Amino acid sequence: MSNSFVELHARQRAEVLLDTGTARELIGPFDNMISPHLEPQNIVPEADDGIVVMKGQLNKKNAVIIAIEGAFQGGGIGEVSGAKIVSALEHALADNKAGKTIYPVIILDTGGVRLQEANYGLLSISEIHNVIIALKQYVPVIGLVPGRVGSFGGMSITNALLSYVIGTDKARIGLNGPEVIEQEAGVKEWDSSDKNLIWNTLGTKQRQATGIIDEVVDDDVNAFRTAIIAAVNEKKDSYRDRRGDFYLTLLDQLDPEKPLDITSYNHLFNQVVAKPHHLEPATSGIHPGTKSRGRNWFELLTGIKKTHKVMCRRSCTPGPTDVNMWQSCQMKITVFQGFGTVKQVWRKVTPWVMWLMI
Ligand code: COA
Repeated sequence: MSNSFVELHARQRAEVLLDTGTARELIGPFDNMISPHLEPQNIVPEADDGIVVMKGQLNKKNAVIIAIEGAFQGGGIGEVSGAKIVSALEHALADNKAGKTIYPVIILDTGGVRLQEANYGLLSISEIHNVIIALKQYVPVIGLVPGRVGSFGGMSITNALLSYVIGTDKARIGLNGPEVIEQEAGVKEWDSSDKNLIWNTLGTKQRQATGIIDEVVDDDVNAFRTAIIAAVNEKKDSYRDRRGDFYLTLLDQLDPEKPLDITSYNHLFNQVVAKPHHLEPATSGIHPGTKSRGRNWFELLTGIKKTHKVMCRRSCTPGPTDVNMWQSCQMKITVFQGFGTVKQVWRKVTPWVMWLMI
């Protein structure tokens, strides 16, 4: 395809979306922000850790594009890549709060948490979600899922939180990848070699029919630009994060004991009438809550007590400049590293984290 968006790499994708001559990369390959965790595992790291952050103008409006490189570690989010995304979003939030409107666009091409840096990836993704929710009070946060990788793992939750998601029919979206489901639930439950099954369930057409993605466009650079510009101008938002009652009612009506095909699911989806559900609001604070299973495991495995105190070392307030973004990105990495002697720790903790996620 001559003007394909899917065929481009992250840096090119960010560049072509921005108005000609306006793109400026932040925390680029020469800033030496490289994952320290890959080389010890005999994996060749990338100078940008698979994330490209580019500021510029999109149809003459300020925009920041955060593009995940699906060709590097399946677009998995680790310590450095996660910190880059969070810092970019926090700066966009600070600018918007200060009245300087800037539109964030996230290009998702990702297998979710980078398996080699599981704990850091999980921490980053929770921070990404916090900032997205905060940003949505000011501007729509637009997501693109062009394919080939699609949007998986923790980043598929990010996907669901975004104001408006645009994709092509070359993408798939799902919490677990097809092979992961087969491995954990068995081939009878899910045959990952069945391409029809995969595309009819995880593919964007089905995801659009069931409200996970908002618009499917042709694999064409101009089609993406046009769709983003319209989403920004019309402040498009599908408010998925406010549809809790609907999804909880849908879940109430699903019987996991019985097999469910795509037609029946779509039928049910269209029939559901949301009933109110009461959930206690989640609260956060500086004081530790009751001991969770995760905290118990962490303290037992690392010998670190009162882990919340390490997190409270974080006191960085991002400022509006690029220098500050570098500093806040560096700060986040330091904070994540505050979790202990990480190389040893994550080797012990990773299997448990993965187990908890399944
Ligand atoms: N962390 C690290 N590496 C990952 C990754 C992740 N989360 N997701 C994919 N990769 C790597 C794969 O290991 C593979 O590496 P290789 O080329 O060195 O073998 C590469 O990315 C491409 O993945 P592959 O599975 O060959 O591509 P695919 O297009 O067939 O499938 C996914 C893509 C995302 C569907 C599949 O890789 C997958 O299911 N990943 C795990 C998703 C998941 O369950 N994440 C949970 C963590 S939150």
